[in-house]
Amino acid sequence: MRFIDQAPHFVQTHQLRPDASHPELIAGLLRTPARIAPKFFYDALGSRLFDAITELPEYYPTRTEAAVFAQHGADMARHVPNDAVLVDLGAGSCAKAARLFPVLQPSAYVPVDISVDYLRDTLAALQQRQPDLPMLGLGMDFSSRFDLGPAADDWLGDRGLTQQARIVFYPGSSIGNFLPHEALALLCQAHAVCEAGGAGGGLLIGVDRVKPRAVLEPAYDDALGVTAAFNRNLLRHVNRLIGADFAPAAWQHKVLFNADESRIEMHLQASGAQTVRWRGGERHFDDGERVHTENSYKWEPEAFMALLSEAGFGEARHWTDANGWFSVFWAPA
Ligand code: AVI
Repeated sequence: MRFIDQAPHFVQTHQLRPDASHPELIAGLLRTPARIAPKFFYDALGSRLFDAITELPEYYPTRTEAAVFAQHGADMARHVPNDAVLVDLGAGSCAKAARLFPVLQPSAYVPVDISVDYLRDTLAALQQRQPDLPMLGLGMDFSSRFDLGPAADDWLGDRGLTQQARIVFYPGSSIGNFLPHEALALLCQAHAVCEAGGAGGGLLIGVDRVKPRAVLEPAYDDALGVTAAFNRNLLRHVNRLIGADFAPAAWQHKVLFNADESRIEMHLQASGAQTVRWRGGERHFDDGERVHTENSYKWEPEAFMALLSEAGFGEARHWTDANGWFSVFWAPA
């Protein structure tokens, strides 16, 4: 017997608070070269700027992944279970998972995102459109540690869903924003989440592949400057969090494909020497000095299969587009 929810439940285990001390963020600012973790992109404006990026002509990953789902969705549905608990990592607008509902017919939807306010709003709107699907939003920083937590276990238990298979859905190649050893740790945790549910669960994950520099670099340095705004908005977010005085206009957006590491790198480069101050500290930046803000790894399918297997998953399969630019993997737990 399952309850039918009228409003989504929400559990918040994380919030980036302006009055907290943020030692990890400050340690990154004091390193040479300085570094800010990409999770700080996603304040409410950053989440909206990212949604705008996904509509840019240069940013091929979103539409290419959508094409893989459109072309191979029927075949995927033969391998991915129906009636599962669909756990959506980095759900954002929840739009990608919502498009899968007709194919996968989940028994519950559990979106997880660090951008708590944005998720709360988008999930409330989705619940209006899908009033019969039980929904639980989790506001958490899964980049540090991913598990559903006791409140989610209780919520699933109350709805008789503890023994339901679990699909962890992680689209958009967000796994590429982790260093390989961090990606492995997250995949191990995703495996544990799948294993804790009933039989038949697994990971459905979108992964961007290596391709020519002439395609990769414009995808992260678009003509309209939306990605540059997304990168600089990070500084506004950091200003709010630690009381810093970064002047976003004094930083240039820089992108390069590091072929040795198989990753796009985004940086912010100081236009002119400047000292940035925050509560209890400061850092001088020389003219041209950079802050490393993001890596976006591009994986070859064989290497990603090996990572999945190291994380404990069974034999994975993948589907790709006509150019072989993007793959969607199904890895059974
Ligand atoms: C969220 N993530 C997969 C995006 C990417 O492509 O690495 C973030 C992004 N950064 C700049 N453009 C998009």
